[in-house]
Amino acid sequence: MIDQDAVSGEQLRDGLEPDVYPVHEGRWQRLKHTDAWRSMFRHPQLDTPRGRALQGFSNVFLHVYPVKVPRRVLRLRYSWRLGFIATVLFWILVVTGVYLMFFYTPSVTSAYGDMQQLRTGIGFGQLVRNVHRWSAHLMVLVVVLHLVRVFFAGAYKKPREFNWVVGIALLAITLGFSFTGYLLPWDQLSYWAVTVGTNLVSYVPVFGGVLTDLLIGGPQIGQSTLQRFYALHVAVLPLALALMLMVHIWRVRKDGFAVRRGSDTGTVGSFAEGATEFSVDGATTDGAIVGGVAADHLESAGEPVSVMPAATAMALAKGDRVRLLGVVDRESVTAEERQTDDTVFAWPHLITRHVVVALGTIATVLALGVAFAAPLRDIANPNLTPEPAKAPWYFVGLQELLSRFDPLIAGIFVPAGVLTVLALLPYFDKNPATESKYRKVAISIFATILLVAVVLTVIGALFRGPGWKFVPPWQHSYLEM
Ligand code: HEM
Repeated sequence: MIDQDAVSGEQLRDGLEPDVYPVHEGRWQRLKHTDAWRSMFRHPQLDTPRGRALQGFSNVFLHVYPVKVPRRVLRLRYSWRLGFIATVLFWILVVTGVYLMFFYTPSVTSAYGDMQQLRTGIGFGQLVRNVHRWSAHLMVLVVVLHLVRVFFAGAYKKPREFNWVVGIALLAITLGFSFTGYLLPWDQLSYWAVTVGTNLVSYVPVFGGVLTDLLIGGPQIGQSTLQRFYALHVAVLPLALALMLMVHIWRVRKDGFAVRRGSDTGTVGSFAEGATEFSVDGATTDGAIVGGVAADHLESAGEPVSVMPAATAMALAKGDRVRLLGVVDRESVTAEERQTDDTVFAWPHLITRHVVVALGTIATVLALGVAFAAPLRDIANPNLTPEPAKAPWYFVGLQELLSRFDPLIAGIFVPAGVLTVLALLPYFDKNPATESKYRKVAISIFATILLVAVVLTVIGALFRGPGWKFVPPWQHSYLEM
């Protein structure tokens, strides 16, 4: 470490690397003071708050993080790190996908052979394919769980409405990724899963035919479909996802972390990084203060001061007991503003946690890849329909719904309706509260839709056999991954 006494105030102000280093501190320190190193990393190496802040500002990777984050963000329960895990899975998919691209040609005559070759003739080919496949499945699951977490935390509310909408776009892109990738092995499983999936599109009123044609590029799935799915899978969707992810993470940074102030303060809601808390606490009646007071409200002099936090107001309206700290004359009230600095540096506190989660995610998909081989059935045969022909698991709930209702309703109106309502949710749901006890209606509707989707998916994936007949998994499993 550098002796700070030896650093001049001038150098600190400039944010330049001080031109001093203790000669006794070995090669690593010397390396950090070479011209080459300092041409890459210009910030001071000082282990001081200012040094760490400058590191954050001047490093493109660290710059993704705010310099300081609320301490609560460090807790696993804050987000279960699901958004971060989804990001890591995306990067694992990019790396493994590029390796697979070296050995794969999107042609109906060679695609299946390439997959066989990956199994036996290419170093780590099978493992990389397995990891790619399990990461893709896991990413769909993790993104859905992330959405559920964000919903229950109420983190989609002002000012994060738009980021929720971006999230919905990311979910759609993630599903598109998995679906287009499904066809590439060109075996019976992929061919028929994609046939079932693309059939859904044909039910779209008016444009069904055009859309199906655009997607599969002919009367049935063939070379043009494979080529289109490949282009979508390796170029269009990765670019779209990278772009939207950039916006998403940028917005997380700008909107501030949705950290609930929790029951310890008795308040409801969330605050962005750097928010201000006030030391007076309570609710008010005419001319008397009993509540958390916002300074700008107090400025409305001459009016009876009527300020109370949403939570207190709701609690009062429901007849709940609230903590009464005092009843005082309006004139005698002074709001003492207290900046809460319950924040910590992102580096090392948050970033080391992220490194551990990233390593854990990599270890998990590696373990899955070693333990379970990605399936490869017989080569695709348009004349031989397997029984049952199932859509990929994340669309099988829809297939189950289709087996029970009119295709137009089950295949189009229900999913389109759910997606639209979901996307516009933050604009319908104006209730500012984030705690579940104040959001009973929203939570009940969301939980019902979620439950129905999960039940349909489980039935479709595990309990359906030939002829879409009911077959319990303990008799025979027709689960396809
Ligand atoms: C490819 C898919 C996605 C990735 C990689 C991703 C990534 C992330 C990351 C890294 C964060 C910050 C930390 C965290 O909350 O875990 C985040 C937050 C957030 N995400 Fe996502 N996300 C994705 C999809 C979604 C979806 C489907 C939604 C909801 C429709 C969503 C809505 C949000 C919101 C509102 C926040 C801010 C929450 C807060 O501040 O607590 N995201 N996302």
